[in-house]
Amino acid sequence: MKFQKVIISTLSLFFTLQTQAYTVGVVMPTQNEDRWYHEGFELEQQLKSKGFNVELFYGGDSDITLQNRQIKRLADSNVDALVIGSIDGNALTESLKDAKRKNIPVISYDRLITGTDAVTYYVSFDNQQVGKIQGQYLIDKLQPTVDNPKNIEIFYGSLDDKNAHFFYEEAMKILKPYLDRGALIVKSGKISPEQTNIPGWRTDLASKRMDEILDTVGYSANGGTKLDGILSLADCLSEGIIFTLKKRGYTPSNIPVITGQDATAEALKNVKEGYQAMTIYKSSEELHEAVLDMLKSISSGHKATVNDTTTYNNGVKDMDSYLCTPELIDNSNLAKLL
Ligand code: BGC
Repeated sequence: MKFQKVIISTLSLFFTLQTQAYTVGVVMPTQNEDRWYHEGFELEQQLKSKGFNVELFYGGDSDITLQNRQIKRLADSNVDALVIGSIDGNALTESLKDAKRKNIPVISYDRLITGTDAVTYYVSFDNQQVGKIQGQYLIDKLQPTVDNPKNIEIFYGSLDDKNAHFFYEEAMKILKPYLDRGALIVKSGKISPEQTNIPGWRTDLASKRMDEILDTVGYSANGGTKLDGILSLADCLSEGIIFTLKKRGYTPSNIPVITGQDATAEALKNVKEGYQAMTIYKSSEELHEAVLDMLKSISSGHKATVNDTTTYNNGVKDMDSYLCTPELIDNSNLAKLL
């Protein structure tokens, strides 16, 4: 018994010493969005509480040059692992070459880093599932038919973020048959990612685009052409959209069905007040637990546990991924998050 205790305490001392010396570079895309701002600090705290050293950097206002510099600097300073929430997943190939040369494991955090074999693991939510939930929600709420068609508009995210592509593709698989037979109509005529994207996922640009659509199509809160639904890929866009719609006289009784994701504080407030129909909760605790488990395995020389090896390909390889489960939130279950 005594012997066992000695072994256990020696092992935990070994693990503590090992993780204390283990430095993780955490690189987040921006500090200007609720989601990323909070997640950077939360992850840092959690890793530190488990004995890891952490170097945390934010990419300014989604500044890709800055993010590349941060990654190079971390690789040069010989961190033991990198956790990267990318700005433009396809623009890190050069800086990640340094990491690869130094055998630094790289975890692609939430957003898939593409076009490089330097990425070791992908930890995210099932982003395809997110898009499915958003598309299906619009159909369920609008019940569009050829005899009773509904008007929708589409707000894609940032063109350089691969996640936006996954959300959109899956949502569109559900919406397209309705669009094709005229049960759903996009009166602005803007449907493709190139026509509907919001650079940098910026709230102010989403707001501006909403204004332009109202003006050009002639949608109106009182009489006029009715806007029934908006496929908005994330809460940061929905916030800008709702800002404009409120300003233009929309109220909870006539606002279109607006989707979102992230369950930001603003979105939860909007769902509660009836301005936003739904959001998607992506538990940062679950995501961080997965990152932590991976780092524990990697730092002790083991392979990390993954739960998917076929769904996400980064253009170079099928990613060893750990995918967490997104959860639909609307006014029927909002209470659990308040
Ligand atoms: C993330 C979303 C987020 C969006 C804007 C996406 O890559 O998966 O959760 O809302 O970026 O930051």
